[in-house]
Amino acid sequence: MKEGYWNVTTELGYTKMFKRHLGLWRWVDEFMALNKIKSVFEVGPGLLDNINKKVEIYQSVDLTKNGNSIYDDFTTMNLDEFKGKFDLLLACAVVEHCNGYRDFFKRALDIKAKFVVISFFNGINRYEEHIKTVSDKHTNEFKFYLNSYSQREMEKELDKLGVLNKSEFITLGRKNSILIIRL
Ligand SMILES: C[S@@+](CC[C@H](N)C(=O)[O-])C[C@H]1O[C@@H](n2cnc3c(N)ncnc32)[C@H](O)[C@@H]1O
Repeated sequence: MKEGYWNVTTELGYTKMFKRHLGLWRWVDEFMALNKIKSVFEVGPGLLDNINKKVEIYQSVDLTKNGNSIYDDFTTMNLDEFKGKFDLLLACAVVEHCNGYRDFFKRALDIKAKFVVISFFNGINRYEEHIKTVSDKHTNEFKFYLNSYSQREMEKELDKLGVLNKSEFITLGRKNSILIIRL
């Protein structure tokens, strides 16, 4: 794997992100308690380690080297060994940074967890269509996407994947939106 942008983000950077999205993390805690979540597969925790302490079984994957996560790209890695082992697939503020959401959703479902929770840190209903941008911080080796996805478009994809009737979008405050899929 090539070294990427994420490895220059500091612990302080992640702490600031956590504080900015405290409402989301409180919601995640409540969701986990309500649904008796005991095992989590988390995509992109970065340098945060709040979820791993709260469950019996925890696995994460990240493009940030953090000593705990598998250092790999969720959108391309082999997921076979993780299928059917977790109550919750959690991905907060990650999918906007990926090259599209379709494969991400497919893979998130492929883990075969009981619940999928994907958060969007800039909300989702700002635009009718998807807006795809690349951060000016990117290098030739590593593109840092800052995509904005539309709920209407994502619902079409969830329908194709056969899970639209199990999906719900909620928005917390002005920004964070959350996709919950109950499988
Ligand atoms: C904006 S940070 C979010 C960190 C944390 N989840 C939060 O909500 O504060 C995005 C994280 O996703 C990771 N990431 C981005 N694309 C990824 C990918 N394709 N596979 C795995 N991790 C990825 C980055 O390394 C980074 O840690």
